[in-house]
Amino acid sequence: MEDFETIECDVLVVGAGGAGLRAAIAASEYGANVALVSKSLLGKAHTVMAEGGVAAALGNADQRDNWKVHFRDTIRGSKNLANWEMAKIHAEKSPERVRELERWGAVFDRTDKGKISQRNFGGHRYPRLAHVGDRTGLEIIRTLQDHAVHTDNIDIFMECTVCDILKSNDRTVGALAYYRSSGKLVVFEAGSIVLATGGIGKAYRVTSNSWEYTGDGHALAYLAGADLVDMEFVQFHPTGMVWPPSVKGTLVTEGVRGEGGILVNSEDERFMFNYIPEVFAAETAKSEDEANAWLRGEEGAMRPPELLTRDVVARAIMTEVKEGRGSPHGGAFLDIASRQSPDYIKRKLPSMYHQFKELATLDITKEPMEVGPTTHYMMGGIKVEASTAASTVLGLYAAGEAAAGMHGANRLGGNSLSDLLVFGKIAGQSATNFAQENSKIAPHGEDIEKSITKALEPFERGLPERRMPNYPSGPRKSTHELGKDGGEENPYQIHQELQEIMESHVGIVRTGEELEKGIQKLEELKKKLPNMHSKGGREYNPGWHLSLDLHNMIITSLALARAALERTESRGAHTRLDFPEYDDELGKVNMVVRPGTGGMAVVRSPLPQMPAELKEYVLKEAV
Ligand code: FUM
Repeated sequence: MEDFETIECDVLVVGAGGAGLRAAIAASEYGANVALVSKSLLGKAHTVMAEGGVAAALGNADQRDNWKVHFRDTIRGSKNLANWEMAKIHAEKSPERVRELERWGAVFDRTDKGKISQRNFGGHRYPRLAHVGDRTGLEIIRTLQDHAVHTDNIDIFMECTVCDILKSNDRTVGALAYYRSSGKLVVFEAGSIVLATGGIGKAYRVTSNSWEYTGDGHALAYLAGADLVDMEFVQFHPTGMVWPPSVKGTLVTEGVRGEGGILVNSEDERFMFNYIPEVFAAETAKSEDEANAWLRGEEGAMRPPELLTRDVVARAIMTEVKEGRGSPHGGAFLDIASRQSPDYIKRKLPSMYHQFKELATLDITKEPMEVGPTTHYMMGGIKVEASTAASTVLGLYAAGEAAAGMHGANRLGGNSLSDLLVFGKIAGQSATNFAQENSKIAPHGEDIEKSITKALEPFERGLPERRMPNYPSGPRKSTHELGKDGGEENPYQIHQELQEIMESHVGIVRTGEELEKGIQKLEELKKKLPNMHSKGGREYNPGWHLSLDLHNMIITSLALARAALERTESRGAHTRLDFPEYDDELGKVNMVVRPGTGGMAVVRSPLPQMPAELKEYVLKEAV
């Protein structure tokens, strides 16, 4: 068998973004030895892309705010599909987690009375987002990172990718990983595992996600036998850059709209007034005058339509473009220059100012930006129990974007940062309890061997008889000598094909026919995976890494497309042109994807019943 290093730990945390860091800190505080594995460099995580703020009902900007209003907004924003217990725990605990971050050194913007300042964001009834200009995620990562490296018992493994979960009977016992730089293998023997691997944006071409986001946790959990839920719901953030092409998809924070930015079409019309859904009508300004009253901070003024939930705003921009009123590069204009002074813009939105100056040679204090939807966040993920973050597999936990239930059909901006803090802590704590209450089991030798064979397969494929004796690090035959009959497929080509399929068949608007075509194409693409061949040695080999990531992306994409086909209605981020309305029956179920006997199965699972007093609260018109 190939050589590998063995690392023993109580809790293995996979992913070192906000959720992973918070889980690792909690696990360590509860007495666990923690291995924290980061696919990238520590501190580089999609958490930083939650720029505009962290949602917590602190009540600093409006005293009427409290956890119940936050709960109500979250359930409404989720189009009634969120797990009510998760939404309740989240709303109750977010303020505590934000104050804790402040104690750990996070420097939030302040009100003139010295309290944490809170800004408006889509779907939040009151200004609720604690923020650090437009660099909130970055400040949170920095704070957690600093706290983690000064916490005992956390060993950090950077540029290390977990590629398989090892089980003994029904329980997880560890994982196989490889170091990206050396290609060396490592087996983590773990009492329990927390998956905090983020989303799957890289399955799409236009995305705010960077290279790490390939659905690893979703696929690892699925292959370990865990249930996935709400996979049909992908958040397309309404405002990504659309120009220049090299930066298409880069996030433009919702904070721009929170600070008063408006959306305008090519006819200079503030079009969001035309897209106010019934459910938000009582709380939304219907005219320029009403919206301007809000901008002036008048008591009782209604929120502008640009602050409707993300699903609504993204679809509105798409419609404007489709109907010929888009901006020159296929988006809409986002104008903050006519609403706020240059000084204010530079102070509250410094990253946006620099981003557009440097990447698009545009001064946002003078001109409008061009923006359009970008794949941003996966509402679907690993099904977890609300109070413990336990998946349906023993010893396996999940938190952050990799987990699901909290956001249902649509996530409110800012709720991701509070979600990862609240449930990161819960996952770390529960994983520690499990590891302390159950004696450790060493992974079986044959399982490790199988797992290693799978990880190294891309080097082996299509050319066994041509392999040189001192493979894998010794000299190899030139790739020109490998014939097509050797089954060579280029992972970069496959990745491009995958992105094309997802953009055109499983995108922001869907139909049954397109989804079926998409599934068929994904199945065809899946057949190519065994023919992917990695050239070169194992050191710094991105082609090999991508070959392994592609398995994860295709599993997750298939889960997404299959769940989307099954949901024959439009709800939140899932828009079916062939089923444009809500279906009340489907509003009572989540789609659960799990490994079935005949392959991937999608089953309907009834939503947990919300207690009557909370239900009544959600239905209240204005609070
Ligand atoms: O627009 C933003 O700043 C993103 C925030 C989020 O996704 O929570």
